[in-house]
Amino acid sequence: MSNYSRRKFLGISAAAAGASLATKTFLLDAPPAWAEQSAGAAERVRFGIIGVGMQGSGLLAQAIELPGIECVAACDLYDGRHTLAREITANSSLPVTRRYQELLANKEIDCIVAAVPDHWHKQVVVDAVNAGKDIYCEKPMSHSPADGIAMVEAARKTGRIVQIGSQRVSSLICKKAKEIIGEGTIGDINLVEGWLGRNDPTGAWQYPPPADLSPENLDWDTWQGTVTKKPFDPRTFARWRCWKEYGTGLAGDLLVHLVSGMMFMLGINEPPREAQSVGGILRWKDGRNMPDVHATVFYYGELPVYMRLNQGCEMAETYRFQGSKGILEVTEFGLSYTPQSGKDTAPSYYDSGYPHAMRMAYEKKWHQENDPKMGQEPMPESISFRGPDYDDMHPHLWTFFQAVKSRSPVTEDAVFGHHAALACHMANESYFRKRAVWWDEAANAIKS
Ligand SMILES: NC(=O)c1ccc[n+]([C@@H]2O[C@H](COP(=O)([O-])OP(=O)(O)OC[C@H]3O[C@@H](n4cnc5c(N)ncnc54)[C@H](O)[C@@H]3O)[C@@H](O)[C@H]2O)c1
Repeated sequence: MSNYSRRKFLGISAAAAGASLATKTFLLDAPPAWAEQSAGAAERVRFGIIGVGMQGSGLLAQAIELPGIECVAACDLYDGRHTLAREITANSSLPVTRRYQELLANKEIDCIVAAVPDHWHKQVVVDAVNAGKDIYCEKPMSHSPADGIAMVEAARKTGRIVQIGSQRVSSLICKKAKEIIGEGTIGDINLVEGWLGRNDPTGAWQYPPPADLSPENLDWDTWQGTVTKKPFDPRTFARWRCWKEYGTGLAGDLLVHLVSGMMFMLGINEPPREAQSVGGILRWKDGRNMPDVHATVFYYGELPVYMRLNQGCEMAETYRFQGSKGILEVTEFGLSYTPQSGKDTAPSYYDSGYPHAMRMAYEKKWHQENDPKMGQEPMPESISFRGPDYDDMHPHLWTFFQAVKSRSPVTEDAVFGHHAALACHMANESYFRKRAVWWDEAANAIKS
């Protein structure tokens, strides 16, 4: 058995139901796909990891918990993370290097897991697939629309498997929401909202650089990639998300999760038609050039989608799908559906503008035609599901490793990843241009 232990969230839900609604709560507790597979029996998949920082260290630790999955080499430009990779794998002789090309040339390695900063995604993915390696690359897939196009093309040309790491698409909670939406339970969806806020320095990316970081133990020149070179700067190394030269801001860091999850739940696989953002640097005036408040209204076809990110006020990650038959709210720990009939439940209050006799006649007729018969009164019920929280990382990695073995499709390929990333680039472009932008499919460019 895998040593993965499932966390269980029991308890009665305080679903977002009106007081008059009864609430029924179900526990989402499907066993993970790999639970039946014993580590010994499983065919092995050997991966190399590129980038063992904040996210890469987690990916590495979780990947090796999966049955049959083995890390055989690690690459990072900072030597401290070679030590870290050896600590995580409990293998003091794990081969480590600063040059990812060595992993790509290594025939012992079946596939790559990459968690490098955004400005390195394209090069690592293009080099990996051209070297014949399948790759799991962190989100947002691209640092620019042009990068995304090059990555889609490289994946298509080489036929290698590319999975992008926006793991909401592998969440059990999002899967249940997708099923509820697909069954038409909430009727015609007419607005989607999503939000996420944080209110602390770490949430605003003010990470403390590693204490020993120096040009001796970090290849600072390579780290900067194609960005105009500047002198060694530990703050930039740790807090690269704050600057558009390396990161993609709140959009690429957090909005991409909301967008990719929504795309999955609604079955969308296209970029938004249009985006318009507001925002600013309102709280963290630390030299960053990316906004710390960023709200964007998108059109997906005719569907308005309103997403809000804030690093100045904490708000739990939430979606609200508003439909003609009610609201589906999706959070980190569950989802709840609150039905609405979409019909009047009383005579229209417009009748306060009628003279007395007319009002009485209208109300009498209304009650005769609309009041439910005794015993047939509707008993609206709010339904809520609690589940393992977004433990979407293990399943997301598992899908990738299974695909490497079986050549089956992944949940989030390069095309899906590109479309999700385009929403983020459009949100950023609209913020910087201070006007609405749209995606010109023919020109492969963001226009305003
Ligand atoms: N899916 C998620 O929930 C999630 C969460 C956090 C971060 N991420 C993504 O993971 C990626 C990494 O983020 P992070 O917070 O771990 O960054 P980080 O700065 O903590 O780690 C990145 C590591 O990559 C190394 N690196 C950079 N360029 C390299 C190169 N050319 N070759 C080898 N190593 C290189 C750096 O030295 C560093 O150790 C980002 O794209 C980020 O958006 C995803």
